[in-house]
Amino acid sequence: MTELHKTGAAVGEPVATSVPPTAFLEVRDLKVHFPTDDGLVKSVDGLSFQLEKGKTLGIVGESGSGKSVTSLGILGLHTAGQYGRRKAQLSGEIWLNGTELLTAPADEVRKLRGREMAMIFQDPLSALHPYYSIGQQITEAYRVHHKVDKKTARKRAIEMLDRVGIPQPDKRVDSYPHEFSGGMRQRAMIAMALVNNPELLIADEPTTALDVTVQAQILDLIRDLQKEFGSAVIMITHDLGVVAEMADELLVMYGGRCVERGTAEKVFYEPEHPYTWGLLGSMPRIDREQTDRLVPVKGSPPSLINLPQGCAFNPRCPYADVPKDQITRRERPELREVAPGHFTACHMSQEERTRIWTEEIAPTL
Ligand SMILES: Nc1ncnc2c1ncn2[C@@H]1O[C@H](COP(=O)(O)OP(=O)(O)OP(=O)(O)O)[C@@H](O)[C@H]1O
Ligand code: SF4
Ligand SMILES: [Mg+2]
Repeated sequence: MTELHKTGAAVGEPVATSVPPTAFLEVRDLKVHFPTDDGLVKSVDGLSFQLEKGKTLGIVGESGSGKSVTSLGILGLHTAGQYGRRKAQLSGEIWLNGTELLTAPADEVRKLRGREMAMIFQDPLSALHPYYSIGQQITEAYRVHHKVDKKTARKRAIEMLDRVGIPQPDKRVDSYPHEFSGGMRQRAMIAMALVNNPELLIADEPTTALDVTVQAQILDLIRDLQKEFGSAVIMITHDLGVVAEMADELLVMYGGRCVERGTAEKVFYEPEHPYTWGLLGSMPRIDREQTDRLVPVKGSPPSLINLPQGCAFNPRCPYADVPKDQITRRERPELREVAPGHFTACHMSQEERTRIWTEEIAPTL
């Protein structure tokens, strides 16, 4: 039995019984739960999506909505014991290029990690080791998956540093992480993530710690590299604005679940869910005064141990009373297809949503 088998056992053995998908990445009903002294934290609770090679999926949601837990789940990084005594419980299916990762042996997943899938973290210092030079780390990441000598791997590291825009890469290859600026470290981490041409790249808030100019450069870089390598990219962020332009599809998460999913154009220009409306209202805009810029969605994120009954967004939703029969407090809205490829989980009728969006929300944005 593999580590992931063991961690998945308590939610129900993740058995890949269904037909393998045709999509490059397909996540089906993914659940990642953490047993704690206070109860079971349902960080991800039934997430499904597909992603093709060459495409970008943006995952958006406020802090604590389950974005990072989802990405670590895909990469097989919720291994037993990683969070102390308690094990993460995973269930559902994660198909990558025909392999179901939750039931695959741990060493197979380890091999795929780095070679076929890689991650760019928010904080490069958490991914880069302080005692090894940047070059040693990229070289090592390459040699784990390629049987080449050190010289060839070093050449490849220099090439990658050059590719991500590090000046004088043949010299900087011997620098240590602390000798790089924040933006340069982020670039070095991207170089390390891409050294094996992974087919799936997960970028988890890759630019939040950086200033606006460097942010834009890093996003451009990821976009260019994606075009060059044809990889599938999952871009995770708090900020709808960051992904609206570069993503093909958007998935909005609230309390560990998906509340809206569709093409970036639909979700950005014709959003259907009141939480997505709130996120759009909180986007920074250049035509507004600094003071009116960030209006966060009012209220606090839900407890992931006791999600509100019915619609989890209900306590914060300004339209909670629109579905008059109070159904929102009793029944959880399922994700429904409201237009081809556009899904939302809200009890309001399509007419009500369209009216509120066009008359009340869109004019204020
Ligand atoms: N090992 C763990 N044990 C218990 N709870 C956890 C564990 N790891 C994550 N969580 C909880 O799961 C929830 C989702 O966490 P996650 O890191 O995915 O949020 P996020 O959407 O990435 O937020 P942020 O935008 O702040 O990065 C949080 O409430 C977090 O406290
Ligand atoms: S179901 Fe009700 S409470 Fe939930 S988002 Fe829709 S209108 Fe708001
Ligand atoms: Mg996170």
